[in-house]
Amino acid sequence: MSPENRNTCPFGPQYQIYWDMRHALFSRFDQAQVDATGLYTMVPENHAMDMARRAGGGATLDLCSGIGAMSIAFARCGQQVTAVEIDPRRVAMARHNARLYEVADRIDFRAADATAESTLAALPDDIHTLFMDPPWGAGPGDYLKRPVTRLADLELAGLNLVDLTRRLPGREVMLRLPPNFDIGILADIPAEKIAYVSASGYLHWYYARMAREDFLQVPPRSGLEPMSPAARRGFVARHIP
Ligand SMILES: C[S@@+](CC[C@H](N)C(=O)[O-])C[C@H]1O[C@@H](n2cnc3c(N)ncnc32)[C@H](O)[C@@H]1O
Repeated sequence: MSPENRNTCPFGPQYQIYWDMRHALFSRFDQAQVDATGLYTMVPENHAMDMARRAGGGATLDLCSGIGAMSIAFARCGQQVTAVEIDPRRVAMARHNARLYEVADRIDFRAADATAESTLAALPDDIHTLFMDPPWGAGPGDYLKRPVTRLADLELAGLNLVDLTRRLPGREVMLRLPPNFDIGILADIPAEKIAYVSASGYLHWYYARMAREDFLQVPPRSGLEPMSPAARRGFVARHIP
């Protein structure tokens, strides 16, 4: 492949902006395995490490783990990780990527539907951190077609994240949420709240970490304007180069 070809995204022009930042996504990207969905949904390595460092306890459940960016970061931060991803090809990629970072032995990869009874029944019961990063929409930027992303928009098999959490282990819940999320539902919840923002001020996503019991109290929707200061109360902006 010529250098020019290497700089052209193999998945098509709609993914080019993610391809251009591929070495920020994975410092070992040239040896990594990704597909189009993995490329545009994965958490960039610096951000992933910043979030993973915040996980308490020693055992993390990474729900909807994709090609493994967060699982790898959790494992690099010393966590024992159970990673659940519905697409078996992506699970194979995640396993390969974990080997690149020499943390495959810390991650139990499971190709499974996170909502299936058989998956739920087989999860470890000593999970401290339940990390959830479900799809925000079908394709790149699709979630932005909604003026606001509500809790109900982040459903897996008809279960929103709160209903799903009732069936999952974990003492703490850690979330990655779209920039247009109805963040006001967390306004009265005691939590660590971060808005990951680029140097130019572009909001990438929200992060929140709270006790499981507190997350189970969130209302289905807030009465607050999604982008208002009242809705964003308690969030601090974090810039990662
Ligand atoms: C936002 S991506 C996760 C990205 C990942 N956190 C990372 O940093 O690489 C969401 C993933 O959820 C997976 N998914 C969708 N429905 C699922 C389900 N019912 N059970 C498990 N995984 C699911 C998708 O295949 C997709 O890979």
